This record gives sequence, C-alpha cells and structure tokens, in this order.
Amino acid sequence: MDIASDPAMERFLKLPEVREVTQKLSPAAQARRQSQPARCEIFSSPFCRTVADTTFRFEHDLEARRLLPDIIGNTVEKLEALTNGDDLFQAQYRKKRSIGIVFSGGPAPGGHNVIAGIFDAAKAANPESTVYGFLMGPDGIIDRQPLKLDKARVDTFRNAGGFGMIHTGRTKIDTPEKMARARKTCLEMGLDTLVVIGGDDSNTNAAFMAQAMIRDDIQVIGVPKTIDGDVQVKDADGNVLCAISFGFHSAARAFSQEVANLCTDCRSDKKYWHICKVMGRSASHLALEVALQTHANITLIGEDLADYVDHERLAKAGQDTDFSAYGMTLRHLSRVICDGIVRRAAVGKNYGVLVIPEGVLEFINEIQDFIVKLNTIIAEFNATHDHDFHREYPTLQAKLDYLHDLTGQLKEEGGINIWNERDDDLFNDIPAFFQEGLLIERDAHGNFQFSLVETDKVIMGMVQDHLAVLREKGIYRLGLAPSLMQVYLERAQLAPGQYGSVLFENWGTENEMLVMHPEIISIKMLRQALEKTDLLKIDDPLPGALLDIYKKSVPQFKTQTHFYGYDGRGSVPTEFDCRYTYNLGLTAFGLIANGATGQMAAIRHLEKEFPQWEPIGIPIAPLMHLEERQGKLALVLEKSLVELDSPAFQVVEACREKWLAASMGEDHFRVPGPIHFDQQNEESRPITLVLNALGKETDF
Ligand code: FBP
Repeated sequence: MDIASDPAMERFLKLPEVREVTQKLSPAAQARRQSQPARCEIFSSPFCRTVADTTFRFEHDLEARRLLPDIIGNTVEKLEALTNGDDLFQAQYRKKRSIGIVFSGGPAPGGHNVIAGIFDAAKAANPESTVYGFLMGPDGIIDRQPLKLDKARVDTFRNAGGFGMIHTGRTKIDTPEKMARARKTCLEMGLDTLVVIGGDDSNTNAAFMAQAMIRDDIQVIGVPKTIDGDVQVKDADGNVLCAISFGFHSAARAFSQEVANLCTDCRSDKKYWHICKVMGRSASHLALEVALQTHANITLIGEDLADYVDHERLAKAGQDTDFSAYGMTLRHLSRVICDGIVRRAAVGKNYGVLVIPEGVLEFINEIQDFIVKLNTIIAEFNATHDHDFHREYPTLQAKLDYLHDLTGQLKEEGGINIWNERDDDLFNDIPAFFQEGLLIERDAHGNFQFSLVETDKVIMGMVQDHLAVLREKGIYRLGLAPSLMQVYLERAQLAPGQYGSVLFENWGTENEMLVMHPEIISIKMLRQALEKTDLLKIDDPLPGALLDIYKKSVPQFKTQTHFYGYDGRGSVPTEFDCRYTYNLGLTAFGLIANGATGQMAAIRHLEKEFPQWEPIGIPIAPLMHLEERQGKLALVLEKSLVELDSPAFQVVEACREKWLAASMGEDHFRVPGPIHFDQQNEESRPITLVLNALGKETDF
C-alpha cells in the first residue's frame, strides 16, 4: 500500500506536533513574514517632498546629452519629511496611481521588500492605487504579462529571499521594436510609473525608457540591485551617493558562512585545500567581503591582478616595450598561489582555503584579450547574418574552424586582423574545456558569462602542474612536527641525534617544523644520504621508520572545489538588506509621488547607523558614459570595480600575510556565523562599507 494513503500514516500526519514540524512555513520564515522593517525617520511623516541638491556635480557625456536630452539635466533629489503640503501638492501626492514593477537580471536578497515598500507607500497615499508586477522580468513588459499585486501576495514575501513574487529575467529592452512594445504595454495599462529593479544594465535600460516615455507622462524609476555590489555611485567629486547595491550583504554573508565552515573543517583534518569560486561576474567586491568576513588563507582580487606589472621582465625587455604585455598571466598567477601553498606546507599546513572571484579571468591580460576579441567576432557575426553564431556553429570544432578560417580570410582581404595567426595558435594551445568556456554564448546584454566557465579548474589545473614540479624539486615539502619525528625514530631505535640532521635541513632548531633536505627527493636519494653518512650500509634494507618519515614529508595536494553563487543569491536577506530594500521601496514611491523620472532610488550613508540613513534620488543619465559592448560603443552605466586604494582593499592587502598564516601557530580564521534575523548577533552592515567609511573619517 502507498504509505501516503496508509490510515495509520494519515492519523500520524494529523497529530498537531507532526503538523507543526512538517508545515511549509518554518518558524524562521514565519517570523520574517511578520516582521516590519524599520522606516527611515522621514517616512513616518504623511508626505515627503524632493528637494534638488545641487552640491553634487556630474560631468555629462556628450552622447548622454544627445540620447537622453530630457533627463540629462536631472539633479540629486533629497527626500524630506513633510507633515502638510499645499492642496496641489497633496492632490498630486495622493492621486490614484497605477505602478508597474519589474525585476531585471539575477535575483538578489531583499527584492521583495522593495516591492513591499512601494506597495505600502502607494496604498497609504491612496488605497485605490494599483501595483502590478511584470512577470518574468522585462519579457513581462514586452509581452504584457502583469500580475496585480494584493496585500496577501505582498505579505507572503515580506523579508523573504529570491524574486519568487513576480520572478525575473535577463531580457534587455534594447531595440526600437522591444521599446515600442514595452511602451505600448505601459500605455494600454494606463501606467503612471514603471519601477525597474536591476543592476547597471537594467538601470541603463531604465534611463532609456524614462526618455522614451517622458512625453507619455510615464515616469521610470530605477532601483540598484545586484549581489555583485558593482552598482556604486559617486559624483564627479567622489562623494558617495550609493555605497552598495542591495543583495550584496546577504549574498556575501551567505558565502562567508560557507567559506568559514570550510576553514573550520580543513583545520580539523588538515588534508584539503578548499577552492572556493565566489560569484561576481566582473568586480571582486564579493570576494573582498568574504576575505574580510572569514580571513581565508588566500583571496584573489581581480582588480589587484589587473594592476600587476611584471617589472622584472619589463626591465629586461627595455624601454620601448608595450607595458600591457607584461601584466598578469595565468602562469604567473598559478605561481603566486603555489608560493602560498608551499610556504604553508613547510610549516605543516598542507591545507587551507583559497577564494577565487568568479570574474577573475577578466582581469588577466591574456584572457581579457581573448574575451574582447571573441565578443567582437561573435557580435559582428550576429549583426551581419540571419543566424546566431552559436546556432550556426554549435560544436567547439565548428567554432574553432570558423576562427581559423577567419585568420586566412582577413589575411587575404588585408582587413583589420582581429583574429591573427598568433591568436589562433595561442587559442589552440589551451585546454578544450577552457576554449569552450571562452566561446560560450554571451548573455542578452552581451556579457561574457563567467559563471559558466570553470575558472577554478583553469587556474587549479596550472597550480597542480606546477606543484608537481616543485615536489619533484624538493621545494614542495610538508613540515613535520619534531616531537612526532622523535617518536618515529625512537620507536625504531634509531638515534634521533644522528638521523635527524641527515634527514632534516633544520634539525635542532626550536619552534619550527622539520623540513627534509631539498636533495632528498626520492627513496633513492634518501638511501644515498644515509649511506654517505654511514648510517646505512649499501645492501642493508631501509628502516621502515625512515621510509614512513620520507613519505610523510611528500605532500599530496588534495582539493575540494566549491562554487558559491546561486545559493547566496537565493539566501534570505540580512537585517541590513531587509531595511535597506524596504526603505528603497519607500524612497521609490517618494520619487514617484514627487513626479521624478530617470532617477534611481538610493539611500545615502548606509555605512552609518540607521537613523543617519538618507533617502535620495540619483539622476541616472549623468552617470552614463560610452563603453564597448558587443563590439560597439554603447551608452551605459559604469560598473564599479574594487578600488585598490580603498581602505577595505588595503586592509585585506595588509592582512594577506597574516591570513596566509605560513608560520607556526594557529590560522586566523574568523567565523561570521549564519544570517540572523533577531538583530542580536547580527552585524549591521558590510565590513567593506564600515572600513571604507572609517578610512575616510580617520583620513587613512
Ligand atoms: P545581476 O548583475 O543581474 O544581479 O546578476 C549577477 C550574477 O549573479 C553574477 O554574479 C553572475 O555572474 C550572474 O548573475 C549569473 O547569471 P545567470 O543567472 O544568468 O546564470
């Protein structure tokens, strides 16, 4: 009989105690649902008004002036509390509205609270206002798929992770046809406002939609979302307007908890290096925060690698050399990682945690060249053919053949040689899985999909190979505890004083792990060393204890690889993100009610205590500039990368050696713990933000 229809089971399932523990809603989820995030002080007033703050300066891009003429003049708008306004203001504020909201791009914890904030504020201003969510991202606008949101639906998702309330998608409204359809939807639905909750590309889109719909009296407001943390806004004088996008803190904390658990695990049995690839398509903000949260032994920061110049090679090459040709290579990077691994092994720590940002390859010169060239080739193919490049050439071999033919073709035509013979040769030299990775289909925004490339495999493959060489040379050696060696030798009745100095280069030193002489790289060499000092006769068997000691000194490099990405993106929001997003929603409505368009809702001073948070509107158009996308120049919002002179990065840099812990004594791992919702044990904001703000205050 099917267990589910077994009457005994049915009775069991109905027991209150069983029901309690098997219900869908866990106590934690229930508590989240019922919790009301705190509001910024100004939102306890019946109204808020926007006041232009012209102290912030922007340098306008000429193309932005040309393409976004009606919103380029927008200024930063400060939201201020208002208990009363004149009749006209009140009528405008309280008018019945129809607001459409869309999620665009990858999920980020806290998104639902943005909707909840808009919904609550809109309904408080006028209960007859309607809030729609467009289903499945921008496709929901293009294909007119709105979902009318009611309180019950909004309540279900308060403080919850993901974008499940209305879902999301990556479609970009980037052609006149798509824009026309989006506009048609908004007009037919009688929308007053569209709120785009997205990253840099989506806010770029929001600006273009704001411009396209300004004459229709449809306002468009953006909201800075992305776990990658690369939507950060400063004015032309470096004043911070938006310190971080929402979702970053939660994802970073979720990743950090996992990484910290691995730190705890690996220091327990001391046998694995955990290789943790951490999301962040391009910028390494997430990896940086994970480093600060966990003190993992090695954390790569892409922006740091991009800054590297091999001065030694450059000096040898002479003056007139191309500077960029001496940047970071995969080979050099693998050497840097090996150096850390070897140094830790020498002190007995053949284990550790290495954090690799997902987008690190983009910062490695030689790879960046390939990515840019291939992006251009694929984009040009798609622009000039009916078929998409990947449909036309579905297999790796077909793609390689196309590239190879391109070299010949361009040579014959004498055109600009984007893919020359050298590129072709170098490309054919890299492993097939990596070739495939580099040729992977670009996303709808033309972005290279780093999350689909086995970055860690590429780097660690080279690390493995080089460690094997170092092992052969006797450089990669495991440091052995003197007390243990003493026991081994005594148990075998071999005088430690005599044998120790023959085996170990640092025998007799205090507070050090014992490292075998570098020339003892095989059992044969071990025999020779013993024979040379008459501790072993030519035909005598090698004592088992010495063989054991030798074997112990040769480290195995065992790794476990992990990818932290989608799990953190789907995490529950931290208290910080819950508050941040709910207030972003309230801010978005404040901007809407004051007639703004082409603005991004933001909160200033996120690095400070909550009472000092300051809701503002940031003009999007003045932030835009020309950038190469899919082989063409496009007007976009710039992605913020990790700044190497920022206090947060400098702290990581200053602590690198300490956290590597290639010395006797304990590791310096930090355990941030899980995301709490009770505020008791929860840190109040990202460490990156705290350090960057403190650095400024203390003039570091
Ligand atoms: P957004 O910028 O849209 O927020 O997405 C960021 C991100 O999570 C990256 O970290 C990651 O590279 C990418 O999305 C993965 O995209 P997909 O969901 O398409 O696999």
